[in-house]
Amino acid sequence: MDIKNRIDYLRAELHRHNYNYYILNAPEISDRQFDDMMRELQDLEDAHPEYQDENSPTMRVGSDIDNKFRQISHKYPMLSLGNTYSEEEVTAFYNRIKNALNEDFEICCELKFDGTSISLTYEKGQLTQAVTRGDGEKGDDVTDNVRTIRSIPLVLHGDYPESLEIRGEILMPWKMFDQLNRERELREEPIFANPRNAAAGTLKLQNSAIVASRRLDAYLYYLLGNNLPTDGHYENLQMASQWGFKISQNMRKAKSLQEIFDYIAFWDVERKNLPVATDGIVLKVNSLRQQNMLGYTAKSPRWAIAYKFQAERVLTRLQSVSYQVGRTGVVTPVANLDPVQLSGTIVKRASLHNADIIRNMDLHIKDMVYVEKGGEIIPKIVGVEPEARDASLGEKIEFVRECPICGSKLVRYEGESAYYCPNDTACPPQIKGKIEHFISRRAMDIEGLGPETVDLFYQKGLIKDVADLYQLQPEAIRTLNRMGEKSAENIVKSIRDSRSVPFERVLFALGIRFVGETVAKKIARYFKDIQSLSSATLEQLKSVDEVGDKIAQSIVSYFGNPSNRQLIQRLQAAGLQFAQAVDNSVSSNKLLGLSIVISGVFAHHSRDEYKALIEQNGGKNVSSISSKTSFILAGENMGPSKLEKAHKLGIRIMSEDEFLQLLQ
Ligand code: IVH
Repeated sequence: MDIKNRIDYLRAELHRHNYNYYILNAPEISDRQFDDMMRELQDLEDAHPEYQDENSPTMRVGSDIDNKFRQISHKYPMLSLGNTYSEEEVTAFYNRIKNALNEDFEICCELKFDGTSISLTYEKGQLTQAVTRGDGEKGDDVTDNVRTIRSIPLVLHGDYPESLEIRGEILMPWKMFDQLNRERELREEPIFANPRNAAAGTLKLQNSAIVASRRLDAYLYYLLGNNLPTDGHYENLQMASQWGFKISQNMRKAKSLQEIFDYIAFWDVERKNLPVATDGIVLKVNSLRQQNMLGYTAKSPRWAIAYKFQAERVLTRLQSVSYQVGRTGVVTPVANLDPVQLSGTIVKRASLHNADIIRNMDLHIKDMVYVEKGGEIIPKIVGVEPEARDASLGEKIEFVRECPICGSKLVRYEGESAYYCPNDTACPPQIKGKIEHFISRRAMDIEGLGPETVDLFYQKGLIKDVADLYQLQPEAIRTLNRMGEKSAENIVKSIRDSRSVPFERVLFALGIRFVGETVAKKIARYFKDIQSLSSATLEQLKSVDEVGDKIAQSIVSYFGNPSNRQLIQRLQAAGLQFAQAVDNSVSSNKLLGLSIVISGVFAHHSRDEYKALIEQNGGKNVSSISSKTSFILAGENMGPSKLEKAHKLGIRIMSEDEFLQLLQ
């Protein structure tokens, strides 16, 4: 047989058997036969690189080449869901829908999978792109890693639309999660707190061969686009399952509140027998037409809501309290507990929040305490069992007065419940925390350096502050544990590359208290360089949008500290950006003096990009409609209440295309 034909035949067969095995759970051939076919295909592809195909079943094994994650704007933003925790809130949601629609409707009930969300694009039936949620507007291109997930089809079959986008959840099954953590414990690597973190962490690995070995799974639950086969969300997903997607078999359509409550009650118990983690139920209005009528708020659809299961709670004994010091010096009390099983993991430590909470609970050593795992990774103590207290056993817990690491006397700032270690230039966890923040992705984005490497460099005396990073030589770090020549060079290179990171991110990287990403951006644009910023008065600082008393005080006190000034001088000498790049961003004055509201979902640019465009052309982006609004830049699915308000005030609604034309 002709080689190309044989390759095509093997690919089609392997796709089919993959589907039978991973989606239908009904294999037709043995693993051995499957492996033999795969090997034959791999050999043929190796011998004939001219027939390469990125969606060949051989791609599932991944590659050792480092992935770099390109950022990609979502065509439709990836929104989140409003959360509810009680039957009353579900009833309120149901009644809101009923009143707004004023006609019959069905609610599709689904499990809320607790993994990491993904958006998949298919063109002509071929997987072309897989992007993480990111900040909702743009995410990371993780296509190579996603190709290794067997329950995600690389090519579709049947009567699929020419182009489609489908979203769902990538999960690490409990079994795989437990196995992975056992292996990590043996190797003395940090374990993952839950399957969600494990799935998200795995998806961002640079080596897709390791991703392949982790055996991730995926459920798809949301089809997007204008060309969907029917008006029903449920019905469309059933069709998607015909095209090869893994759709949960546990979706049900409900016609009444009672049916919704029955579904919730059933899964609240039954979910414990599922192979993957779930943390609630998602309720969606089934008709797409009705979904459109209901529209969206800025963050989430009005036609859907999540009902979160009550977090599991267990009782265990408090053995001792230790104190952790964070990058800002905040001291967090941590409870050391008798190990206890909670939602699939063994809990030994839990957060105790702050001194007030400890006092209010009148907490004693050896108390029996309730531990809960909420949305956060770290479990928390939510109460004490008074019945179980034996007064003679443990002493009352008094919050420490001195820093457990460096011994400085702790301070409390007005209006805050936390205690701080004020020794911010010499207390080790603060120094390491500051360096970790500095190199993090949203700050200086220095690749190849993580908390462990920072710790190692610090232990070995190579770095004592962020400026020392720029003095590191490959020779000095090469000899450290497990560090090869290549990675030493890479680290030095990425540190060097970070010198071109723009001023606003350098400012954020400095870690000035209360100066987050947005504030850093605003003050960088306002003051233009570090000289004017560092000599700014409280009043000048407060005239910047979003800067209030607290932030202004913090900035003044940061620059009032001579060691901070010295640090900045050294960073300047190392070549970092301490001034705004010449501002060629203002491209016109076409929108000068105009207040513009952005609403809806856009096709050509993300919301952030439109915000930037407005600012670059002299306009101001405002969040709510008022009589001062000049016009509304409206995408698809603008919320009905905004629409109504705009009509009432007679404000012009401009489409995306009109807007772009205006700027041209
Ligand atoms: S629908 C516009 N359905 O929950 C609504 N989401 O807070 C799109 N999730 O980011 C989401 N199971 O990661 C939907 N059956 C389900 C889900 C689900 C889990 C996650 C998803 C989303 C988050 C919403």
